[in-house]
Amino acid sequence: MSILIKNGNVVTLEGISRADLRVNEGVIQEMASQLFQNYDDVVIDADGLQIFPGGIDLHTHFDHVGVSDDFASGTRAAAAGGITTVSCFVEGSMQLNLIDNFKDWKYRRAKTSYVDYKLVPVLSGLYAEEFKTQLSDLVAEGVNAVKLFMAYSKAGLLTKDADLYCVMRDAAKSNILCNVHCENGDVIDEIVKEWVKEGKTEVVNHGYTRTTGMEAEAVYRAIRIAEAAHAPLRIVHVSSQEAAEIIAAEKKKGRTVLAETCPHYLVKDIGALALPNFDGAKNVCSPPLREKYHLEALWKAIRDGVITTVSSDHAPVNFYGQYSKQLGKEVWSDIPNGCPGVEELYSIIYHFGVAEKRISIEKFIEITSVNPAKEFGLYPKKGCIGVGSDADLVLMDPSASRVISHENQYGKTDYNSYEGYKITGVISYVLSRGEIIVKDGKVLAAEGRGKYLPSKTSCAF
Ligand code: URP
Ligand code: ZN
Ligand code: ZN
Repeated sequence: MSILIKNGNVVTLEGISRADLRVNEGVIQEMASQLFQNYDDVVIDADGLQIFPGGIDLHTHFDHVGVSDDFASGTRAAAAGGITTVSCFVEGSMQLNLIDNFKDWKYRRAKTSYVDYKLVPVLSGLYAEEFKTQLSDLVAEGVNAVKLFMAYSKAGLLTKDADLYCVMRDAAKSNILCNVHCENGDVIDEIVKEWVKEGKTEVVNHGYTRTTGMEAEAVYRAIRIAEAAHAPLRIVHVSSQEAAEIIAAEKKKGRTVLAETCPHYLVKDIGALALPNFDGAKNVCSPPLREKYHLEALWKAIRDGVITTVSSDHAPVNFYGQYSKQLGKEVWSDIPNGCPGVEELYSIIYHFGVAEKRISIEKFIEITSVNPAKEFGLYPKKGCIGVGSDADLVLMDPSASRVISHENQYGKTDYNSYEGYKITGVISYVLSRGEIIVKDGKVLAAEGRGKYLPSKTSCAF
């Protein structure tokens, strides 16, 4: 079936142009100022709608221990929110070695996806040794990125500097991009212990103990280690002005540093950790929400090209239940980290970015689609409205508005991080590889239609 999308305002890096698109066999077959209807075309009248390349979320945690969304519910929520490609981190396993665990995710767990997906193995301390011997097996499975942590020692995720160096060095030789969570976990853990011992009981202390200094220190150290390892670097979830400034300075010197932030760091501040009735726990994530002035500093870093992508860091921990935020009801430092966001990412960035004039519409597609595709080696198959590219498209009505609510979300978390937010821009259609997967807020796609994306080399190399 071919689809003719008529009269839409197509958004590319060059600006907005009125154009018709013919979509056939999963790709954009034709694009011109006027296309005539073929006898077998289904026509979508996009008059008044903006047409964007589908959103690409490079930072999700589907099917991780303690989260409410697996690949089915998580990618269904993603689709509803205009995300047509996700990248999910592959959590380590105590039972399976690195490559067998990766294959378990690739060939079993992720198979229920509604949208196309990439998988990025987490190399915790557990796998730093195995990485040396199983690198080529990972590459053969289509891996071109890995994730490392400089925090979370208690969870066994923290990678020590020597291992960081070795992994970065070996990864770079195989064109594998290292994504690093930058916080000085060891020092933060000590500060947290002290504050808990001193009897500080409020949830907001999560924010005060994980300081911007400890983020900035780790960002600087990661960049220096990557430099020694001759490796490009991608820093995930940048949350502070200090961190952004370090990245800006290093980029100026010519170092390849890609940087991501997340919607919550752009629209919420540390006050959200101090909400009454333990509601602040819903906003506990790491790095934490920051003082207000960081928000505009991060928007500026986006405008300046210092921060290159925005991802959700969808790590949806329920508020109630067996594994939930309630685990930290007695001691705030036991609150599990992570917030939902894959369903809202695109809309939040459109509203607070484009509608409220913090970024241009071109910048919007750059950070939500074009750059993510380039950074994970998916461009121009993904992240591009052009002939031959996958027909992954979002058609949005910029004049309509809606209120975000848990009541009508697809994600399974028992709350919505953006409850009650009134946002401008309503998604009318989402197409993935030429199939209408969402219409007027309803997901029409079938579970398991998403495809694994073995990708090419990141633009960082
Ligand atoms: O708090 C967060 N961000 N949870 C998810 C794990 C991570 O650090 O990305
Ligand atoms: Zn992280
Ligand atoms: Zn994360």
